[in-house]
Amino acid sequence: MSDLPQHPRTERPDVVPPPPAFAARANVGPGLHDRAAADPFAFWAEQAGRLQWDRPWDEVFDDARWPTAQWFTGGRLNVAVNCLDRHLAAGRGDVVALHWEGEPGDRRTVTYAELHEQVCRLAHGLTELGVGPGDRVVLYLPVLVETVVATMACARVGAVVSLVFGGFSADALRFRVADTGATVVVASDGQFRRGQAVPVKAVVDEAVAGLDHVEHVLVVRRTGETDLPWTAGRDVWWHDLLERQPARHEAASFDAEHPLFIVYTSGTTGRPKGLVHTTGGYLTHASWTHWALFDLRDDDVYWCQADLAWVTAHTYVLYGPLSNGATQVVYEGSPLTPHPGRHFEVIERYGVTTYYTAPTLVRTFMKHGPELPAGYDLTSLRLLGSVGEAINPEAWWWLHEHVGGGRCPVVDTWWQSETGAAVVAPLPGVTPLKPGSATLPVPGCAVAVVDDAGAETPPGVEGNLVITAPWPGMARTVWGDHDRFVRSYWAPYAEQGWYLAGDSASRDADRYVWIGGRIDDVLNVSGHRLSSIELESALVSHPRVAEAAVVGAPDDVTGQRIVAFVIPRAVPTAEGDVDDGGLAEELRAHVAARVGAVAKPREVVVVSDLPKTRSGKIMRRLVADLTAGRGGGDTTSLTDPTALAAVDRAWTAHRAGS
Ligand code: PRX
Repeated sequence: MSDLPQHPRTERPDVVPPPPAFAARANVGPGLHDRAAADPFAFWAEQAGRLQWDRPWDEVFDDARWPTAQWFTGGRLNVAVNCLDRHLAAGRGDVVALHWEGEPGDRRTVTYAELHEQVCRLAHGLTELGVGPGDRVVLYLPVLVETVVATMACARVGAVVSLVFGGFSADALRFRVADTGATVVVASDGQFRRGQAVPVKAVVDEAVAGLDHVEHVLVVRRTGETDLPWTAGRDVWWHDLLERQPARHEAASFDAEHPLFIVYTSGTTGRPKGLVHTTGGYLTHASWTHWALFDLRDDDVYWCQADLAWVTAHTYVLYGPLSNGATQVVYEGSPLTPHPGRHFEVIERYGVTTYYTAPTLVRTFMKHGPELPAGYDLTSLRLLGSVGEAINPEAWWWLHEHVGGGRCPVVDTWWQSETGAAVVAPLPGVTPLKPGSATLPVPGCAVAVVDDAGAETPPGVEGNLVITAPWPGMARTVWGDHDRFVRSYWAPYAEQGWYLAGDSASRDADRYVWIGGRIDDVLNVSGHRLSSIELESALVSHPRVAEAAVVGAPDDVTGQRIVAFVIPRAVPTAEGDVDDGGLAEELRAHVAARVGAVAKPREVVVVSDLPKTRSGKIMRRLVADLTAGRGGGDTTSLTDPTALAAVDRAWTAHRAGS
């Protein structure tokens, strides 16, 4: 049994002040919110000053082209120089940049000097492969040292990088390679997934087949696959390329608004959006928030457990921590492989001080009981972070008590692929925490909760979360579709010039922000953003499916789980019948192949009809209400209200049978 304090629920306070010892030596003290609010541009300029600029900016913010923000106009810098060279110049070359651990247990410790050398070699290597400033490079890699090297090398030569999650399918990879028009794809021979070596190269070959703009596929040896499919002239081994390059590289500087990376995220259509982040403003926001929110100290061992392909890791593994010269852990594999205590073992092994995780993982650990973390020495921890979805108070307290020993502030960070870095989050030495709330806007950021007309909602009343002032990390556009960028985020409050986040929220009497759910057809499954429509398109591309509605049903561990309601092409024998000749399994496999395993529906329910408006639009909200046990939604616009009753019967039968 755990020897940690087990407070009964009722004794838990609603407000948790910063521990005095923590507050006394925190990077950020009181007063900063007000100071930043008094002059946000001066505040961000001060934070930009933490970076190394090759040419100073002329203007902090140019609002002439809003909502295409321009920050630090005229300024020039190199992101890789900021993340590497300047630490070497400051005599910190021997500091460990990465404690990397592979899923099978292999380990590498990489200093800033070593990382720098690898990045310099690859920068030359990319040049040899014809990659220049503005060219796109797609990375389809697991969490490897090479992934970090490749990201930095792209920044060094001014190439625009786009990381694609290794669990995505060939189709999903192909879409991103085609959409970016990448000239080089970097991939591995294989990947370790939950203890298994899985071939990857063939997936890449399938994804890039016929895409003539792909000149090279650079291959990192990871699993040692034999009989690797190989296209002579196009395919290049990473180790061969690097071996023949010089160890030093003179980096050019790039405009503050030069594109740095494209991160794809699900929107409300079937087509993922490639959000474009740029150089100076993004790095300022990433770097400062990493330092301030995680209270970074020289002796910290920081660990953000997100996969490098997610935006979380872009900002809080790659650009933020490296720009701050942090020492961090990067772990390749699944948190539960080979045993559920793997993360705690890693924390103990490296003396991790700062652990940035996701509520869904906390809830997974909770299922194993407090004995799980109690089996490890976690006394090195001094700060915990959470991201991806609102952390429910139960999970907050469990993390706080059983992982953090009751002494670590839990920094709940609200942000999005679009915002680039945290926008609502506590300052750990200053902000009293309220479990379940991401607390207050980050200094220099401004948010509001408003109704459809733009009026602020009273305390406790839900509304739309909007960002009401420019912030430096914001995405500048959707790659290749600026209209979509404007339409999606800026059109609803065009008059006010506000950014619509897509989340509902409320504020309490202390102005704390409480995030609700998405206001659009976006699902949040284990902190991963998925679009209902994208999944429905995948389902209806299967020959046995006529129509589909995908909703997120509440789930104790993953937040939401994907439930697909499908009308098969042949009429089902019985509504809700899950014994459907293998259709459910077939569809799950089909979605995994089209999108990726993360998108597999947990449940497939066969229905004979779906509720639709007169214009033929499926009313997902009503279906979602059923799965959440909420009734009473407005059904007046339905063509045929009996359709909803049919879905209800099918759902009830399905639940009874499962
Ligand atoms: O709904 C919010 C939820 O995740 C969405 C953003 O997803 P993505 O762009 O994939 O970025 C995730 C990592 C930054 C948001 O619109 N979300 C993220 N963090 C939180 C959150 N919801 C509540 N609290 C959070 N801390």
